[in-house]
Amino acid sequence: MTLLTDSRRAETATPIHELLAERWSPRSFDPEFVLSDEAVTALLEAARWAPSAANFQPRRFIVARRGSEAFQAVTDALSEGNRPWAPNASLFVVAIALTEDEKGTPYRWAEYDAGQAIAHLTVQAHALGLHVHPMGGFDAEALALAFDLPEGAVPISVNAIGAAAPAEQLPERYRSRELAPRTRLPLEELVVVDA
Ligand SMILES: Cc1cc2nc3c(=O)[nH]c(=O)nc-3n(C[C@H](O)[C@H](O)[C@H](O)COP(=O)(O)O)c2cc1C
Repeated sequence: MTLLTDSRRAETATPIHELLAERWSPRSFDPEFVLSDEAVTALLEAARWAPSAANFQPRRFIVARRGSEAFQAVTDALSEGNRPWAPNASLFVVAIALTEDEKGTPYRWAEYDAGQAIAHLTVQAHALGLHVHPMGGFDAEALALAFDLPEGAVPISVNAIGAAAPAEQLPERYRSRELAPRTRLPLEELVVVDA
């Protein structure tokens, strides 16, 4: 882990697993860093083995390495706020929820199951010394069009994955956010019943 990551560590009331305490979402990625195929496979295996409702696994992934046409297509769909930094990542993984089966019956937990998969991928990424920055800021319709997604296949998040780099390489407007303290609501507010 980089020094930067050490300084981003979560403050917790009691110790939690290092991977969870150290996980954070950088905007500064090393534009030269190339992910090995083995690492990409490990990320996808972590996503594959995440739980899902009734084991239906209503999630699919677009995997786009930097330099590929697919990577450019994902970049083009990013919001103005994400496009200046996210393409320095080594890889985009787009999580897609299959919201219905072939007969049109809804998969009620499709978005949840897609999120679970990315959560597992994220922890695996950190175990490999990588970082993940999830993004909701993108044009889902443009992505669906670019990748010819079928009806009911909804892009949920674009995840920038790579090696974190110093905040100084970011455009000015992102730098202070990169270094700002990480905060969360207190447990007392999150836990509505603690019997
Ligand atoms: C579903 C989702 C959508 C997000 N969308 C964006 C985004 O479009 N742009 C961005 O910079 N960060 C985005 N984030 C990152 C969050 O802002 C970030 O996770 C949060 O501030 C907590 O910071 P941490 O991940 O470093 O703990 C998103 C996160 C999630 C889970």
